[in-house]
Amino acid sequence: MKKYFAPGRINLIGEHLDYNGGLVLPAAITLGITATYTPRSGNNILLRSSTHTLAKEIALGDEILFDLKNEWTNYPLGVIAQLQKENFQLPACEIIFESNLPEGAGLSSSAAIEVLTAFILLSQTEKNIDKVWLANFCKQVENEFIGVQCGIMDQYAVTLGKKENALLLDCAKLQHRYIPFELGEYRLLILNSNKPRSLITSKYNERKSECELALKKFKTVHHQLQHLCEADMSSLNLISDEKLKRRVRHVISENLRVKEAAKVLQHNDLSTFGRLMNASHASLKNDYEVTGAEMDTLAEEAQKIKGCLGARITGGGFGGCAIALVHQQMTDEFVEKIAEKYFSVTGINCSVYTCNAGEGVYQMA
Ligand code: GLA
Repeated sequence: MKKYFAPGRINLIGEHLDYNGGLVLPAAITLGITATYTPRSGNNILLRSSTHTLAKEIALGDEILFDLKNEWTNYPLGVIAQLQKENFQLPACEIIFESNLPEGAGLSSSAAIEVLTAFILLSQTEKNIDKVWLANFCKQVENEFIGVQCGIMDQYAVTLGKKENALLLDCAKLQHRYIPFELGEYRLLILNSNKPRSLITSKYNERKSECELALKKFKTVHHQLQHLCEADMSSLNLISDEKLKRRVRHVISENLRVKEAAKVLQHNDLSTFGRLMNASHASLKNDYEVTGAEMDTLAEEAQKIKGCLGARITGGGFGGCAIALVHQQMTDEFVEKIAEKYFSVTGINCSVYTCNAGEGVYQMA
């Protein structure tokens, strides 16, 4: 019996930039999914969960297709299907998952279970797993098997996250560097709106297509352009459609904010970072339109509370979680106030967790 762990992630700033070749600044968190791996005789893989009642057993070599009825098991099944397609020899085994990561909350529970499954199965035969390859492989599972056209950010952070660090990832070059996650007297709080979201049914793919359309238009003039994030504000004139213009304005302005955020974080200038968080939320609300009433209430009310330097939605949007940077002496008061305000406006209770930057996927001692 062996135990493994894969974390969830937050994104400090840089939203909807990964599939546009931009910069993102996520961190793996200490909440995540643990799995117990036990080899078995025979030819089957059994997937179980202590959080869900549904279990699934498949025979190695069987054809595996996505099926909503398979619920959470679609994620590990997608990984198994893809590994088989690439001719990896998989072991007969039982894997039991246990999670303290809220699901469908924008903290990348899907990337966590995909990366965890792939890491476990490959670890049984491979000595050194290339982590960038692993992240890309799991992104492919999400794109092709699950059907969400996500970028690389979540799988990358879940795989390559490092304790007490955020990672500044260049999604065009697939290169990263670590930035110490040092908040001094401040704490980063995760505010879960408890409004479930699912990228499968959200407008995520629609936003991605809008960006592709804009890139196509730009390319007719700037032939060498590879990614939307390479464009600058002057290119906006090439787009006549107001809505599309706003989408692109978010992408370009958010990429500039990430660059500045990485700079100011290295000098521990948290006030400026907080302002960038607020600006990011406003851009996601007004230009990219991926927030929604609940998330706007959560982030905007948080921004008004004393001791909070900044707050914004984190992840893909359409529900999920916000993050808020709050002075350590004010956190109790902050939590009380935001919970009360959010409930009075939406009738939903939010949950709050303190966020610590943790390690990417690993085998537990
Ligand atoms: C989701 C996707 C990521 C990224 C974010 C938005 O989390 O899985 O690839 O696009 O949304 O930044």
